[in-house]
Amino acid sequence: MAGKTILITGGAGFIGSHVVRRFVNNYPDYQIVNLDKLTYAGNLENLKDIEDKPNYTFVKGDITDEKLVFSLFEKYQFDGVIHLAAESHVDRSIENPMEFIKTNIIGTVTLLNAARKYWTDNPEGKLFYHISTDEVYGSLEDDGFFTEQTPYDPRSPYSASKASSDHFVRAYNNTYHLPTVITNCSNNYGPNQFPEKLIPLAINNILNMKHIPIYGQGTNVRDWLYVEDHARAIDLVFHKGKIGETYNIGGNNTWKNIDLIRLLCKVMDQELGRDPGTSEKLITFVKDRPGHDHRYAIDASKIKQELGWEPEVDFETGLRKTVRWYLGNQKWLKNVVSGEYQKYYEKQYKNRLVK
Ligand code: NAD
Ligand code: TYD
Repeated sequence: MAGKTILITGGAGFIGSHVVRRFVNNYPDYQIVNLDKLTYAGNLENLKDIEDKPNYTFVKGDITDEKLVFSLFEKYQFDGVIHLAAESHVDRSIENPMEFIKTNIIGTVTLLNAARKYWTDNPEGKLFYHISTDEVYGSLEDDGFFTEQTPYDPRSPYSASKASSDHFVRAYNNTYHLPTVITNCSNNYGPNQFPEKLIPLAINNILNMKHIPIYGQGTNVRDWLYVEDHARAIDLVFHKGKIGETYNIGGNNTWKNIDLIRLLCKVMDQELGRDPGTSEKLITFVKDRPGHDHRYAIDASKIKQELGWEPEVDFETGLRKTVRWYLGNQKWLKNVVSGEYQKYYEKQYKNRLVK
């Protein structure tokens, strides 16, 4: 795709910022346009190091804004879209599903409509790449894995909105022959993640000697992938993925929440020079998340066999790198946990207090 122009949505968020950085640095002959609304989760500080690069443009705007989206397609004549913009936090979706319907469903369809309009006459070399989640597959018992054939069974407002957007992407491929590809990835962790998600929330609380809230018994299982491994997979799928296909991406790295938090406490004690066992004392079991999915685990053999992708960063290394990033970027952390975050935290956790 020499010299192509790519729209990346949600590039100021956690995963999006790693994807934008990778594309801007690795492909100097591409033009990267980052469209982001800068919600509470979007932060231009995440992209400070590349903001002045000549092949990068930032546009502040909403993917549901039809006029804006169409005008960007008109102006830049995009060859590719990598669509990451979303409301992404399950707990917020339980509080306020409508924001998820607007951004995740209507926003995705707005982008699809623009791609359809501008690409119908000349679909050659175009690609609409939709970034999705393993949560669309529902919840597993204690064994088994999600494959690309697993039936959709979303169980939270977040996963229902992502599942809906996946269906629209597939429908546009089938009905209008829009060149699309989808990936469904497991839980990401790493630098720049907003501290509403488990790992950065726990890092922030441990740093400040606050309780670490564990939902239920801490026996829920997630499959964790280092964010740069995900960005590398996105790069590969964008360039080598087969049109119309879905690929699962996972870390082959499942952890019970309680075991993960114990490991994190150990790493934090070491990195902060605290006595062993200090941080573990902060662990607090709280009221469970309603409808809490028990277990996610990805079978990523398709992307390995067809495209040669595998995770590279082992969990203890990735976790330590992540902890060091947060400890080295406490100004970033302080900025994002001021104001709005305090209200969110208070509201989210006050009714969850120790059982
Ligand atoms: P995030 O919440 O950190 O960032 C989302 C970004 O989208 C923010 O910059 C926000 O400002 C922007 N955004 C939100 N609504 C918008 C709108 N209406 N218009 C334009 N921009 C808007 O999310 P993330 O964790 O980086 O996730 C990125 C994508 O990857 C999402 O589609 C998510 O569903 C998917 N995903 C995330 C994970 C994970 O573990 N975080 C795993 C699998 C898939
Ligand atoms: P989260 O990071 O919100 O990701 P997701 O729900 O999309 O998997 O949560 C990861 C796991 O950690 C999930 O099982 C819920 C649990 N959890 C807690 O126990 N305490 C918390 O404060 C949070 C935010 C999550």
